Amino acid sequence: MFVNDCLNINEQGHLTIGGCDTVALAQEFGTPLYVIDENTVRKNCRSYVNSMKNYYGGNGLPLYASKALSCKALVQLAESENMGLDVVSGGEIYTAMKAGFPPEKIQFHGNNKTQSELEMALDYNIGKIVVDNLYELELLNRLAKEKGKTVKISMRIKPGIDAHTHDFIMTGQIDSKFGFALETGEAMEAVKKTFSFENVELTELHCHIGSQIFDIDPFVSAGKVMMDFIGDIKKQTGYVIQELNLGGGFGIMYTTADNPTAYDNYMKAVSEVVIAKAKEYNIPIPYIYIEPGRSLVGEAGITLYTVGGRKEIPNIRTYVSIDGGMTDNIRYALYDSAYTVVNASKADKTPNEKVTVAGKCCESGDLIQKDTPVYDVQVGDTLAVLSTGAYNYSMASNYNRNPRPAMVMVKDGKARLIIKRETYDDIIANDLDL
Ligand code: LLP
Repeated sequence: MFVNDCLNINEQGHLTIGGCDTVALAQEFGTPLYVIDENTVRKNCRSYVNSMKNYYGGNGLPLYASKALSCKALVQLAESENMGLDVVSGGEIYTAMKAGFPPEKIQFHGNNKTQSELEMALDYNIGKIVVDNLYELELLNRLAKEKGKTVKISMRIKPGIDAHTHDFIMTGQIDSKFGFALETGEAMEAVKKTFSFENVELTELHCHIGSQIFDIDPFVSAGKVMMDFIGDIKKQTGYVIQELNLGGGFGIMYTTADNPTAYDNYMKAVSEVVIAKAKEYNIPIPYIYIEPGRSLVGEAGITLYTVGGRKEIPNIRTYVSIDGGMTDNIRYALYDSAYTVVNASKADKTPNEKVTVAGKCCESGDLIQKDTPVYDVQVGDTLAVLSTGAYNYSMASNYNRNPRPAMVMVKDGKARLIIKRETYDDIIANDLDL
């Protein structure tokens, strides 16, 4: 019935997550409330780690892309599951450091890392900086030199694969703000340039082809293109790149229309092509990184709201108002994203109406889902939106000065707070008087 197996229904007909009654969670912690199931995140981490063991001899490391959900508890959980970490800002680096994450297992991304972020990464000895462009390469080399360090770098390559079209295509000219283009020769030129810089050491190439992808083929093609480039680098310069980062992007289930592929299938197919290409170019099989974000935490999370109003507009639609909205989940407003909505107070009942779930912001576009099937939603009911673990809290805002919700982690019937609810004092903390 649900898109996720950490969810269930108890004797009261209430939705449960990780063995906890969601209506009781809403009462105890207040709403809106993010809830994340620890066992599901751990299970997902293990499926990546084990898949690498089974299909690639363990010759690699999955990095948790913390942009999906960065907070101390999640970073610590990733560490306890032997994952590395992908960070994309000073804030994510700081979170990781305060969570006690080992810096050598972190890779730092971004198309415009600021000087102070780069210095921060150097000071914390972050394992690898994924260089995006020539300005950054030069700046990083200079900063590393000033600090008397040599820093390991990766290089972000646009492999020329558009995974978002239905039948993915190899594009001639890639329109993307991220990374170096292959087909213009920009990437090769940048690789050669690194050899003249003394304070950077190029050990890895990186690519990331998109997000919420279900097909395996574009990932396999990306693996091929990257290995061909590694082969080309060897041919032109004699230098052998030893590590390959194939990014994230694995799709999850938001509604029953989504049909994600088992991760094992991806790893098997990609391993085969990488190993075959390594033989073809007579180079060692590279150490592999992947960077799942959404697929680690997305389905493990739900958001709970309390219904505060209902407006039936005859022959048009019924609006149901919740105590959160685009401030805690902007994905419908931004991308028209599909979600499954459940009346958590009456989860044992089959949906009998369609409602439009509206947030509380002064903004008509502040919707969570339009005309979505639910069972008899009334004021006071607890509404659950499923698969909100990724890119919800991490994209939350204080629009209309709404405080960001709390997050609880549930496990085997127990719940504990992992992010406190913001207070009004938090909201004005940086305001200064006239
Ligand atoms: N690595 C790199 C370099 C990335 O840019 C991303 C995501 C990931 C890994 C993780 O991808 P994932 O496994 O989560 O698909 N805000 C959007 C998603 C943006 C993804 C950006 N990059 C959303 O809410 O759908």
